[in-house]
Amino acid sequence: MIIAIDGSAASGKGTLARKLALRLNYDYLDTGALYRAVALSLMKAGIDVNYIDENQAVKCASEMDLTLTKSPEIRTDLVASLASNIASLATVRAELLTLQRAFAAAPPSGNGAVLDGRDIGTIILPDADLKFFIDANISIRADRRTKELLRGGQSAIFRDVLAAMKIRDYRDRTRLVAPLRAAEDAISIDTSNIDADALLALALSYFETKHRVE
Ligand code: C5P
Repeated sequence: MIIAIDGSAASGKGTLARKLALRLNYDYLDTGALYRAVALSLMKAGIDVNYIDENQAVKCASEMDLTLTKSPEIRTDLVASLASNIASLATVRAELLTLQRAFAAAPPSGNGAVLDGRDIGTIILPDADLKFFIDANISIRADRRTKELLRGGQSAIFRDVLAAMKIRDYRDRTRLVAPLRAAEDAISIDTSNIDADALLALALSYFETKHRVE
């Protein structure tokens, strides 16, 4: 079974995806990490973050260094912001699409796959068996992200994190190519008032219902 999870930043989609994959013994692909890795490679190449050379971004995507997707260096707000700029380029998205579909078609465990991102249920895997769309109030999300950055040893101020998140949300939702939106057949869950365990339990109940039906 293929599970697609889309949603906004710090909505809890990544934690849900990881926990679901662990529980079901499925493979997990964090597709946001792919965009972040491209952003980090560009930064390492010394680009001016205010001017993105599209050809260079496409080259980084095509030569994707997957080890970067595991690097803690991709977890900064600067990388997130550059990733969201790069993610509005159709050419970069096209380059990463094949990799994402190939992962879903042949997950290493042979069991199933969970992919999370912004366009998984709409563009990458429109035929996914189960789709979730996760969102929450932006102040709550910014608070979660601030705490997460602080826990990771980075400096973070709620007000700045909130401002950066508003810009990123707006860009991700309004870009012309593959904007963040819920697929028509996605199950939408607002996590403003529920924790990660409650979200997992809810998602598992949808999974079990789907499994019984098929
Ligand atoms: O999910 P995460 O916050 O790590 O994603 C970083 C950025 O990558 C997002 O703000 C978004 O612009 C982009 N992204 C995307 N499509 C995906 C996953 C991430 O456009 N499937």
